[in-house]
Amino acid sequence: MMTQEQNELMTRVGPGARMGALLRRYWHPVAALDEMKDKWTHRVRILGEDLVLYRDRSGKFGLIEESCPHRRASFFHGIPTENGIRCMYHGWEFDGSGACTQQPFEKGRNALLGKKIADAYPVEELGGMLFAYLGPLPAPLLPRYAEYTWTNAVRTIGKFVIPCNWLQCMENSADPVHTEWLHGHLHQFRHEKEGVSTAIARAHDRIAFDEFEFGLIKRRLYVGQSETSEDWTVGHPIVFPNTLLVGSGGGMWKAHTFQIRVPVDDTHTAHYWYSAYVPPEGKTAPEHLRGRAPYYEPKLRTPDGEWNLEMIDAQDIMAWVTQGPIADRTRENLAASDTGVVAFRRMLTRELEKIERGEDPIGVLRDPARNRNIELPMEKGKSMYSDGFASYLERMAVRHSPIRDDLVDLFTPRAKEAAE
Ligand code: FES
Ligand SMILES: [Fe+2]
Repeated sequence: MMTQEQNELMTRVGPGARMGALLRRYWHPVAALDEMKDKWTHRVRILGEDLVLYRDRSGKFGLIEESCPHRRASFFHGIPTENGIRCMYHGWEFDGSGACTQQPFEKGRNALLGKKIADAYPVEELGGMLFAYLGPLPAPLLPRYAEYTWTNAVRTIGKFVIPCNWLQCMENSADPVHTEWLHGHLHQFRHEKEGVSTAIARAHDRIAFDEFEFGLIKRRLYVGQSETSEDWTVGHPIVFPNTLLVGSGGGMWKAHTFQIRVPVDDTHTAHYWYSAYVPPEGKTAPEHLRGRAPYYEPKLRTPDGEWNLEMIDAQDIMAWVTQGPIADRTRENLAASDTGVVAFRRMLTRELEKIERGEDPIGVLRDPARNRNIELPMEKGKSMYSDGFASYLERMAVRHSPIRDDLVDLFTPRAKEAAE
C-alpha cells in the first residue's frame, strides 16, 4: 500500500514532476514513420506536453512545442523549410533545436534571432519507428535492440491511446499471474456454454524476477512444468521503464512484439505494438514488406463501445482502465502475486534517486560499441501458437494490421509442408 503522496510521485509525468524527469531520460516513440508518409506535421502529446512532429524539406524530423513562441499559433499548420519549420502566422522560422532562425518583418530589430526560444527535441528513426528524447542534453544513444534491425524481418506498428496512467500498464507486465485469469478463466467463463478451454489458462506454480542490464526479467513456472523450461530458465524482459517484450519463436523464426507504453499525460497512455517477424527457415520476407513497418490502429472495442474481450490486448486494457484513470494505490492490498509489481516500483524509486544524484539510470546507453544488435532475453517455444498462428493472431491487436494476411501466409505451414 502507498500513501497518496507516494502514488502521486510514481504516476505524475508532466513537466516538473519527478517521475516525469526519470521518464525523460529515455527515448520514446512519438509516431510510426508510416503515419508520416503523407504528412508534413503531426500532433504529439507526450509526458504532458503538446508538441508537433514535422518533417523538414531535407527529410529530417523535428519535434517542437505546438505553440509558436511569438504569439502562440500552432505549428501544426506550419510550413516546412529546408532546415526546420516556419510558423504560418508571421513567418518566424525555427530549427530542430528550437532556435529562431528567421523573423521576416523584424529586420534589424530581431533580438531573438539565433536564440533557442521554443522547446524542441531530437528525433531519430529506427526500424520504422520515430523516437524522441525529451530529457537533458546530451541525449543518450537510441538503443538498437535487435528487433529494430533484423534484416529478414516483416514489421508492423499499432497504436491505441488508453485512458489511464502508464504505470498501470507496466505493473501488468510485472504480474505474470494475471494471464491465467484475465486471458484464461475469463475467456472460459465467457464461452463456457461452448465448452471452450484455452491453452494460455495454465496455472502458475512460481514466479520470479531478476534484474538485467536493461530492466527486469520475468520468469514463470506453470504447474506441472519442468524447471528446465525456458519460461523458467530464460523468461522475457521488461525493458525499463515502459516497454514489455513478448513473443515466441525458436531456431530460425521469431515473432517478437515490443509493447511500449508512452505516457501521453497523467491519465492517458499511447500503447504501441511494435512487431517484428522473422519468417521460418526457407521463407523470406515478401519484397513489398521489406524495409517498411505498416501502421494500424487496432479496433479493441465492439460497436456498442464495450471492450472486445475476445481479444487478448483488449482484456489487458479493460483491466487497466477499470483500475481508474490513476489507480488508487492507497487502497490496494498487495499479495504474493505482486512480487514483480513491488520489484518494478522499487526500481522506479531507485532509478529516480540515481538521476537526482546526477547519474544515468539503468539501461541508458552512451557507448556506441555496446549499442549494436542488442539481443534481449526471450524464451522460445511458448504455447501461444498451439492452435495455429492464424487463430492466435485473431485474438491480438495485430489482426488489424494491413499485413495480417501476409503474416498468416508467412507463418502457416502450407498443406504439403504440414503433411511432411
Ligand atoms: S505567432 Fe508564430 S510567427 Fe507569429
Ligand atoms: Fe495480459
